[in-house]
Amino acid sequence: MATSSDWAVEATGLVKIFGDNRAVDGVDLRVRTGSVYGVLGPNGAGKTTVIRMLATLLRPDAGHATVFGHDVQHEAQIVRQLIGVTGQYASVDETLSATENLVLFSRLNGLGRAESRAKANELLEEFGLTAAAKRPLKNFSGGMRRRLDLAASLISQPPLIFLDEPTTGLDPRTRSQMWDTIRRLVSTGSTVLLTTQYLDEADQLADRIAVIDTGRVVAEGTADELKSSVGKSSLQLRLVNPADRDDAVRAIRSVLGVDVTLSPEAARITAPMQDPDRITDLLVALREQNISLTELAVQKPTLDEVFLTLTGHGVETDAATQPDASETPKGRVNA
Ligand SMILES: Nc1ncnc2c1ncn2[C@@H]1O[C@H](COP(=O)(O)OP(=O)(O)O)[C@@H](O)[C@H]1O
Ligand SMILES: [Mg+2]
Repeated sequence: MATSSDWAVEATGLVKIFGDNRAVDGVDLRVRTGSVYGVLGPNGAGKTTVIRMLATLLRPDAGHATVFGHDVQHEAQIVRQLIGVTGQYASVDETLSATENLVLFSRLNGLGRAESRAKANELLEEFGLTAAAKRPLKNFSGGMRRRLDLAASLISQPPLIFLDEPTTGLDPRTRSQMWDTIRRLVSTGSTVLLTTQYLDEADQLADRIAVIDTGRVVAEGTADELKSSVGKSSLQLRLVNPADRDDAVRAIRSVLGVDVTLSPEAARITAPMQDPDRITDLLVALREQNISLTELAVQKPTLDEVFLTLTGHGVETDAATQPDASETPKGRVNA
């Protein structure tokens, strides 16, 4: 490995302004070597702009960043040798086939002819692209391109890999395949900085997460730390009689000392709960008022709820880029 630095990325006060839009507005990031770091935020939050500055593709208007200790502006040549960028840029030749592209990448990375062909075949097999290997890239679907793009990054396997929304728009099967590949990249020595709009993806993959909203980091920590920032657990109640709602809310406020979230469903109430032991007290209070429940559950909060708490708004998902909902059940982060 080219460096022994503890920090793959150290950025302070990064700013990028487009016209009068402060797309990135003072971002600090520290990515430990050997980890997966997730930058989580909705469309337009500034994720790609941050990556482009760290990858020497865009000059920051203010702030400072290093990659393995090398300044991205003053040592851009060195930084470029330490990084790979995949994601929202097609780095491949449209007229060449998938095999030809991978052989070309291998050759550019110094592999011999036979070795390049073997490497290309191995990667095409791994990414389920063998059947399409001879087709020119211009006939590839978005998901196939994404897989080929990641396959190409495995050839050189640079010490730091930027993955810009690696699974946006992918079907569930390809998506979990990508997750496995990302884990493999890290277990074989790379550091990964990935951006995502998917809370479950950050939760599954990232050692640490920065939540970014309108160009600013609004929270940073492990998934568990972020989740505990909204309370250790949340209490979900469903009433037999929706008319009891106001009384139930009053009881929760007085016994647990917290504010509740009312769902559009009249009979359902959710409350943050710091101390699960207090449930007994609450149940006694509800019983005393003859309020009956059909359902009671205690759940750890989801990253969705964390995001809502931190930013005051939910993650606006774009139907076109959302993977199959069955792959992202809300409860999965609790498993
Ligand atoms: N080259 C550009 N010129 C002008 N505005 C841009 C450019 N790139 C990004 N933006 C704007 O900067 C903001 C952040 O964009 P981006 O970094 O692409 O967000 P994300 O990757 O989180 O979706 C958006 O408002 C976007 O419209
Ligand atoms: Mg982007």
